[in-house]
Amino acid sequence: MKIRKAIFPVAGLGTRFLPATKAMPKEMLTVVDRPLIQHVVDEALEAGIEHLVFVTGRNKGVIEDHFDRPYELEDTLKGRAKLKEMELLLRDQPEAGSTSFTRQQQPLGLGHAVWCARDIVGDEPFAVLLPDVLVKHKPSGLKQMLDAAAAAGIGKANIVAVEEVPMESVHMYGVVGVGKPKGDLFELAGMVEKPKREQAPSNLSITGRYILQPEIFEILATQERGAGGEIQLTDAMLRMAEGQPFYGFKFKGKSYDCGSKSGFLAANIAYAMDRDDLRDGLREEMRQYL
Ligand code: G1P
Repeated sequence: MKIRKAIFPVAGLGTRFLPATKAMPKEMLTVVDRPLIQHVVDEALEAGIEHLVFVTGRNKGVIEDHFDRPYELEDTLKGRAKLKEMELLLRDQPEAGSTSFTRQQQPLGLGHAVWCARDIVGDEPFAVLLPDVLVKHKPSGLKQMLDAAAAAGIGKANIVAVEEVPMESVHMYGVVGVGKPKGDLFELAGMVEKPKREQAPSNLSITGRYILQPEIFEILATQERGAGGEIQLTDAMLRMAEGQPFYGFKFKGKSYDCGSKSGFLAANIAYAMDRDDLRDGLREEMRQYL
């Protein structure tokens, strides 16, 4: 399965992070020295994605700036012979024409955000990556999904990444039911968005990485509302699963819910501890608190 395009829904208001997100998009909060959105874009590029589609909203212009060429900065760095910094910027620079930005004009839910990208994606399978969730692993979460699909000989199909969460947390996620195994994947036996503990089909939550077929856009176009009064991607996927193969995939690695303060702080520590230039100093600093 060749996936060329990825959608990044980045229109969310980030109310859980106020006042940090009053004037700055939550996707620009940094985990060490890379904005959350850059970490997730890195993951998509590692998986071979060629075109990045951002579904933005008001006050999100700086995300577009982040993926543009910073001429003034380049000029200044060049003038000061800061070659390492120049290299760093150039390495992350998406190729001209490989990004698209469209706006979700109203906060109507994740399903609606994905639907807003329908014309840019067109009639081909695509990935969705939620920038709230960081998957820390090599190979990346999305790459693992594609590799597992290839190994299992899966052609036209839909796949969601899942992970185990405590039963008392299932109400915060989309939750899947587990059917027959297929290689490292399994057939989905139902899906429900933010179920009560008693209604959850398992403790496997959908973890913000999706591979979807374009027919989902027709289902999303009906704009049906689900949990929280929002147009839910999970509900549209459930309808897709009636007519198309749908699989779950338990990825390797740890995920960080950077939409929550504790997950965001944990991600910062985990990513910093991976860095040769930060590890020792941070360990010393943390020792004082432990
Ligand atoms: C969204 C999805 C949900 C998924 C979650 C992962 O919910 O609707 O199915 O489990 O992301 O973070 P949200 O966190 O936007 O409420």
